[in-house]
Amino acid sequence: MNSYKNLIKNGYCFLTNNISEKEIVSLKAGLEIEHQRLNDVKRINLTDLKNKVLIKKIFSYLDNKFITNVLDKISKIDNEVSIFPPFESMKNNFSSIRRADHGWHRDCGGQKDYKFCLEKLKNKNYRFGKIGIYLQTNSEYGGAIDIVPCSHFSGRKVKSSFSDLFTKSSLLLVDKFCLFLKNYIRQNNNKIDWGKFVIGNKRLLPIPGQIIIFDSGLLHRGTPIKVKIIKKLEELQGKVIEKNHHLNYNLRDNNKFVLYSHYANQIGIESYFFHRLRIDDNQNELEKWFTWLEKLDNRIPFKRKSLNILKKAEKNIRKFSL
Ligand SMILES: [Fe+2]
Repeated sequence: MNSYKNLIKNGYCFLTNNISEKEIVSLKAGLEIEHQRLNDVKRINLTDLKNKVLIKKIFSYLDNKFITNVLDKISKIDNEVSIFPPFESMKNNFSSIRRADHGWHRDCGGQKDYKFCLEKLKNKNYRFGKIGIYLQTNSEYGGAIDIVPCSHFSGRKVKSSFSDLFTKSSLLLVDKFCLFLKNYIRQNNNKIDWGKFVIGNKRLLPIPGQIIIFDSGLLHRGTPIKVKIIKKLEELQGKVIEKNHHLNYNLRDNNKFVLYSHYANQIGIESYFFHRLRIDDNQNELEKWFTWLEKLDNRIPFKRKSLNILKKAEKNIRKFSL
């Protein structure tokens, strides 16, 4: 099945990125320096990197004919899809397996509380999701993501068919199962990764440098570090204090780096901001998106297109944010 069909049907797809092994090593070394310069923060805006050569390199990976092809195919007339902020590098971003949902979530989860967003999410033309460039494959140190294929249909109107019915029922089971875990599993039980029992889950194994695009409705989690590795790390580095349920180990050669950005159309952006601008201390996120896009080199092909789409969405966002 081609990438575009995979994204629509299964909620995700792999795309090729011709980054050599040597390039990956130098990319990770460059990002390591940038993260350490900023107190080893988990996320950095790529437009803020000191190393300008690195910025240029990374954006050349986003300017990829395979990404453009898929985005063009999922675009609708008058509702084009483009690439959007944040453009970020994430280092060792792991959810704790002790968390009640074991890291499983939908990126559009926060939008489901609003009627306005539910309408948008149900729109068959809604497009919003992540573009991730994974600089390592999945191993016992994590490295990429686990997903539930087809789980993005939740809340959308899709043609009713047998397979769709199956998807919906299995999803319901997954949701109920997570709820069951939330209520009944002791929070400090770290002997088992309960999240791996979520029905229908699949561990993705990208080639280092490969791109995974996934829909904001897809149930997913960052693949956790194996429990036996955590135990070993704790012997060496002491027990790690979990901040906001995130782990903070130094995995040295296995440090995980992922480059994330969004793909979206106007409908997707409006739904995203309806929720995001209602979060405390987050009222300037829309301005930030404009700033990050303006900061991009004018030669980056998607810059103008993205700014135009965002300006169109802004008018409506301002209306419903009053
Ligand atoms: Fe996520």
